[in-house]
Amino acid sequence: MSEFRLTQISDTHLARRLPRLTGNFDSLSEHIDATRPDLVVNSGDLGFDGPAQRGDLEFARSLHDALPVSCRYLPGNHDVGDNPTLSGAVPSQPVGEPSLQAYRAIFGEDRWRFDAAGWCFIGLNSLVLNSGLPSEAEQFDWLAAQLASTGPRPVALFLHKPLYLHAPDDPELAATSFRYVPVPARGRLVAMLGAVDLRLVASGHVHQRRDFTFGQVRHIWAPSAAFIIADARQQAIGLKEVGLVEYRFQPDGFEVRHIRAPGQDDVDLDSLFGEASTS
Ligand SMILES: [Fe+2]
Ligand SMILES: [Fe+2]
Repeated sequence: MSEFRLTQISDTHLARRLPRLTGNFDSLSEHIDATRPDLVVNSGDLGFDGPAQRGDLEFARSLHDALPVSCRYLPGNHDVGDNPTLSGAVPSQPVGEPSLQAYRAIFGEDRWRFDAAGWCFIGLNSLVLNSGLPSEAEQFDWLAAQLASTGPRPVALFLHKPLYLHAPDDPELAATSFRYVPVPARGRLVAMLGAVDLRLVASGHVHQRRDFTFGQVRHIWAPSAAFIIADARQQAIGLKEVGLVEYRFQPDGFEVRHIRAPGQDDVDLDSLFGEASTS
């Protein structure tokens, strides 16, 4: 296969009780049906409140199963709970082995690797980083083995949280520590990735679209497929809109297209709280 077409969706936040978000997913589904990529990757926050409501994850899985192409999944903080950080407050829903097991029972492995079009694709569970859980150590061991076998292939990394805002050694600030891969695990991960030909880091989580390059690595922040977060609640860094990202990988490079599916609506999180409280 000389070209591999991958569509990244993210932060679908699906729940049966939130039909406007299902409506945005339906628009996405129609676009995917029309374009038929080789693979869809959902980079996490599949459900609205997975740690508290397992039914949200089951609902999300059922909608993805209806897509006409294969899917791979990665967990988000709203699926398995959040990372502990050195500088920020303790998460209200910390990641734990039971929630990880519940996720895996519904979506399968929370990390993966495959090769296509001369590339190596790696998906990581970013929520176990800094957790001290057995799953964190197991993932680092697994990653080391994968990176040892990439050979000369360029590497594309997918994970829920962006690695950093601007640069690997950005200081971790208490107010935004939940937004990026936390330190010190970030440094260990970046050092491991330094041994391979990393070209792309594709993330979600921030609900803002962004596309920047640091060194040889292009960082793509996929927007949420579901909703945006108003400036009063969240600093604007990139573009606040719902949408998706399409990639075409060839052995000598890749292309990125920033897309909105016809019919996708910029639902505001605040309006959603109102909807949830009245239904
Ligand atoms: Fe999200
Ligand atoms: Fe998230």
